Amino acid sequence: MIALGIETSCDETSAALVEYEGEGQAINAGGVVLSHALWSQHEHQRWGGVVPEVAARAHAHYIAPTVQRVFRQANLSWHAIDCIAVTAGPGLIGGLVVGMSYAQALSIASNKPFLAINHLAAHALSVRVSESCPFPYLLLLVSGGHSQLVCVESASQFHVYGTTRDDAVGEAFDKVARMLQLDWPLGPHLEICARTGDPKAHALPQAFVRQKRCDFSFAGLKSAVRRMVEERPPETAKQKADIAASFQYTATAMLCERSTQAMQRFRNDHPDLAQARFVAAGGVAANQYLRAALQAVCADNQFQLLLPPPELCTDNAVMVAWAGLERMLAPEKPFQPDSIGHAPHPRWPL
Ligand code: KG4
Ligand code: ZN
Repeated sequence: MIALGIETSCDETSAALVEYEGEGQAINAGGVVLSHALWSQHEHQRWGGVVPEVAARAHAHYIAPTVQRVFRQANLSWHAIDCIAVTAGPGLIGGLVVGMSYAQALSIASNKPFLAINHLAAHALSVRVSESCPFPYLLLLVSGGHSQLVCVESASQFHVYGTTRDDAVGEAFDKVARMLQLDWPLGPHLEICARTGDPKAHALPQAFVRQKRCDFSFAGLKSAVRRMVEERPPETAKQKADIAASFQYTATAMLCERSTQAMQRFRNDHPDLAQARFVAAGGVAANQYLRAALQAVCADNQFQLLLPPPELCTDNAVMVAWAGLERMLAPEKPFQPDSIGHAPHPRWPL
């Protein structure tokens, strides 16, 4: 079974062809990426953040050649695919309209089923492309728009344990990187800058420490860095690196502490599970410092850590195609494609 995936919800125009080679209906790891094309829009650099109208225009410009490229790379025509899966939300409305309209037109022309995919569900399932990760598992979903701890019960059932009360962690990475005048893309450059800094150089505030809840808050941390930078603007590369490292250390500590709380709740909810598994996904899960810290937390709590490769953590169409395959092959319900008139959902919680 082969799915075409299309992703245009933020500032990445991406398409992918993914095949499921497993047997029968019980889908698990076994996605074969036949082809994957991704255009990261650097057009936003001059504004220091993603500009919705610029993103929509860029998606309109890149979508057709990007989809054409994945068919050419895989040496396949649309006759070979079994469904068209596209991100229908959450995300920026202009980009969603571009990707969905393209997918709907292709579905009509090719007579293949149309699937409207939730972007957060696609992140949540992305680990199963490359890892054997049976349900249920505990998920830390950390991206530019979301920070959540989620119990993933099945491909369509998500139990949200906690979420952010204000900023998403990726947003905090981006804002701090901008305060330090780092290059685009901001989050990855903050990670690089932090490598040469001292993570204990500045003591920064953490939210909800030792509280029995799984929620996050990153606004206080971000504001503390802003005050520090305004009071004493960093002059040398070392001073910038110390701020970056202290921020990254504190954000990671908060994510790890909340994850530990969620692990206890997950165990209470699933007392008979022989092997508990923890997954991190979303753009911030590409961060190597966070990945190493989560490894230690999982070892301490006897959870197996499973991580998608970094290139499948940030936005991509492979995970969208995979979420389409999961829906087509889900054992619990008969498959129903979505209506061709399905509307985009800029807000669409899990
Ligand atoms: O999942 P994603 O690509 O898009 C959304 O769904 O939001 O996540 C993007 C976010 C951005 O805030 C970006 O700065 C952050 O993930 N990010 C990182 C790294 N790579 C991407 N943050 C920290 N370290 C990284 N290496
Ligand atoms: Zn995303």
